[in-house]
Amino acid sequence: MMKKILVAGGAGYIGSHICVELLNEGYETVSVDNLYNSSDVSMKRVEEITGKKLKFYRADFLMEDVITDIFEKERPDAVIMCAGYKAVGESVVKPLEYYYNNLTSLMLLCDVMRKTGCKNIIFSSSATVYGDPAEIPITEDCPKGEITNPYGRTKSMIEQILTDIHAADRDFGVILLRYFNPIGAHPSGLIGEDPEGIPNNLVPYIAQVAIGKREAIHVFGNDYDTPDGTGVRDYIHVVDLAKGHVSALRKMEKDGGLNIYNLGTGKGYSVLEVIDAYEKACGKKLKRIIDPRRPGDIACCYCDPAKAKRELNWEARYGIEEMCRDSYNWQMKNPDGYGAFEHAKICFS
Ligand code: UD1
Repeated sequence: MMKKILVAGGAGYIGSHICVELLNEGYETVSVDNLYNSSDVSMKRVEEITGKKLKFYRADFLMEDVITDIFEKERPDAVIMCAGYKAVGESVVKPLEYYYNNLTSLMLLCDVMRKTGCKNIIFSSSATVYGDPAEIPITEDCPKGEITNPYGRTKSMIEQILTDIHAADRDFGVILLRYFNPIGAHPSGLIGEDPEGIPNNLVPYIAQVAIGKREAIHVFGNDYDTPDGTGVRDYIHVVDLAKGHVSALRKMEKDGGLNIYNLGTGKGYSVLEVIDAYEKACGKKLKRIIDPRRPGDIACCYCDPAKAKRELNWEARYGIEEMCRDSYNWQMKNPDGYGAFEHAKICFS
């Protein structure tokens, strides 16, 4: 029986939502995060939401000795790996940092795992590995495409590394979860996305416009081959996404092996449709400016989520309304993210 799960990057946006779902499902949860791009306040909030205790270590996955100690002490049954650098634009400017950090930490993690006998890993991959997809909706059989940035290439390379590790040791269970566009926040408004500086992604940017922190939304291109000319994406509520990890753990426990799943809703929304939905959620008109296309963006990307439904018994429940509602609720309650709150000081080690 899998009882104890280690979440690498557990203090981050997605990691913290995964911790909530794990605790809710009765798993002992160990979160490990270097807090490079996250706050330990989220860890306290996870405990507040669930009414359960979580173990948190502030540690860096590049520090093999420290990570080994944690694994020897905790002996997790599985790892959910969502630690890593994740800003597309920054990765173009700092490719070495992205390759070094994301690939090395994954390899050191796998080395520690095999040395300490933990042989189950779920990896946070991305729809970005499909590049400009060869077919829409995207199934897991769709070939990987040409990726336009180093961040996306680290995702694709890590998928390959884990695939090869599994091929060499069939007992090393691997699940690659290809996230579409996670947005929203926990309905409590206690945890959510806390981008540093100017948000790169659409919904965090809209959220800051909605609370008056920024003036207008910049729409990157309205001349794509889509119904209204703006980019179409498969937005998924972060709580649904987090629940997908619990379903993946159950699959891994039952069948092992190497498996790949798309986590999305299967529905595409354009930039303008998302803005309209957000306006409804916040009850305000939001100013928009049409800008040129952003380099590297594609026109349309949404998945066929049937495989996850069939094999994981998982499907997204929330729609775009709930995604916008919960994003706005979080942003209203935490206009400066976690920044304004005291450090939680619940670190071990
Ligand atoms: C991006 C990354 C993806 C990554 C994900 C993380 C690329 C090619 N992909 O997805 O690898 O996993 O972020 O969340 O960069 N848009 C605007 N105005 C904005 C911001 C975005 O119009 O201020 C548009 C974009 O052109 C796109 C859509 O909104 O059509 C969604 O953009 P975004 O939220 O940045 O996500 P992706 O680019 O799909």
